[in-house]
Amino acid sequence: MKKPIAGFSTLSKSEKIEWIATNYTQNPVQSKKILETYWNADSKLQQLHDEFIENTISNFYMPMGIAPNFLINDRLYAIPMAIEESSVVAAASKAAKFWGSRGGFKTEVLGTEKVGQVHFIFKGSYSKLESFFTKIKSTLISDAKHLTESMEKRGGGISQIELRDKSSDLQDYYQLHCTFETQDAMGANFINSCLEQFAATLKNEALNYSSFSEQEKQIEVVMSILSNYVPNCLIKAEVSCPIDQLNISKEISPKDFAEKMVRAVEIAKVEPYRAVTHNKGIMNGIDAVVLATGNDFRAIEAGAHAYAAKNGTYSSLTHAKIEGDIFHFWIEIPLALGTVGGLTKLHPLVKLNLEILQKPSAKDLMQIVAVAGLAQNFAAVSSLVTTGIQKGHMKMHLMNILNQHAATEQEKATLIEYFKTHTVTHRGVLNALENLRK
Ligand code: MEV
Repeated sequence: MKKPIAGFSTLSKSEKIEWIATNYTQNPVQSKKILETYWNADSKLQQLHDEFIENTISNFYMPMGIAPNFLINDRLYAIPMAIEESSVVAAASKAAKFWGSRGGFKTEVLGTEKVGQVHFIFKGSYSKLESFFTKIKSTLISDAKHLTESMEKRGGGISQIELRDKSSDLQDYYQLHCTFETQDAMGANFINSCLEQFAATLKNEALNYSSFSEQEKQIEVVMSILSNYVPNCLIKAEVSCPIDQLNISKEISPKDFAEKMVRAVEIAKVEPYRAVTHNKGIMNGIDAVVLATGNDFRAIEAGAHAYAAKNGTYSSLTHAKIEGDIFHFWIEIPLALGTVGGLTKLHPLVKLNLEILQKPSAKDLMQIVAVAGLAQNFAAVSSLVTTGIQKGHMKMHLMNILNQHAATEQEKATLIEYFKTHTVTHRGVLNALENLRK
């Protein structure tokens, strides 16, 4: 019978390891060894990672790969990707190479507006609340000056504060709906600090507003927090080429391929079951770059899926059309990213990855990340409408199967060669390995 522990966070790292290994694993000696194997030999670097979070006991490795040859707005990029799924980097690289010789990717930043809200309960007359808000709006901004000054110097700051009446959705519920520009920062800390200051000003000013009744003076702030839904922090990335250049394989004509791609996207637009998987493929590319550049992939995921459902039905984030004899394929996605602050200066690999990406601004990074998503989707959907996904997936998965069964380097080389002309299945690989070992 397991017992809860008090004060776990106050234990030393080795005490924590001892406790978890002893109480939750069958072979504590072996468990401790595994955890230690993943420690960095450089104790300073290890300490840096330990201090990113609470209760660190080890590091969890994720492979980091490079997808080279991305031509974006006529500039060449090699994109770092941190991801565990075997086929993602290969698929991105393939799409990059394909589009690199067809004009490359073109992008446009459609907006960079971030959002935050103060949610509050007000019991009283809305017209009085409106007059109150008009009166205090400039104070809301001036009270936050100590927070906004340096952001303003960089060209950002508070863009707008709006009072929103949400009382038809929830009794007595109102908001300050606020928008911000945060330049190269993702801006979460800046926005949350501003919002908490707005909330304090709102409450204080209400207490002193003589036109309010005693009840109206008691504004209840429920919470102040940024929104990860940023429909106006939007990026478009596109590829296009004459249909006859879509010579993807000998098995399918360029025209059939173009039509199938458009059809597949149309299906993802109208069928949520497909749209979710279609968008998951896009996020394979997006998350990998977001993670490699030290950004918050959960925020990006949440915002992207909300955007995919913005018209009331969950739908595709990419679009495709044939216009005349030109095939167009594009993505429109909200991406709130930062290239300063957060982990960007702290995590040595994040720093290196930003250097590999030629020190992008947040806007540049939005473009690169959107392109990675579009490339990934192009690769996935083009496999789906031609050979099927398993052929490529299983080829990439071959190494995982071989490693699972402790294949030697010699066995790996032989079987990789063999499976160039044979279909990869789990059983097939095991049989081949057994034959080889006989
Ligand atoms: C797998 O990780 C991603 C795909 O399922 C995406 C898609 O179906 O478009 C291949």
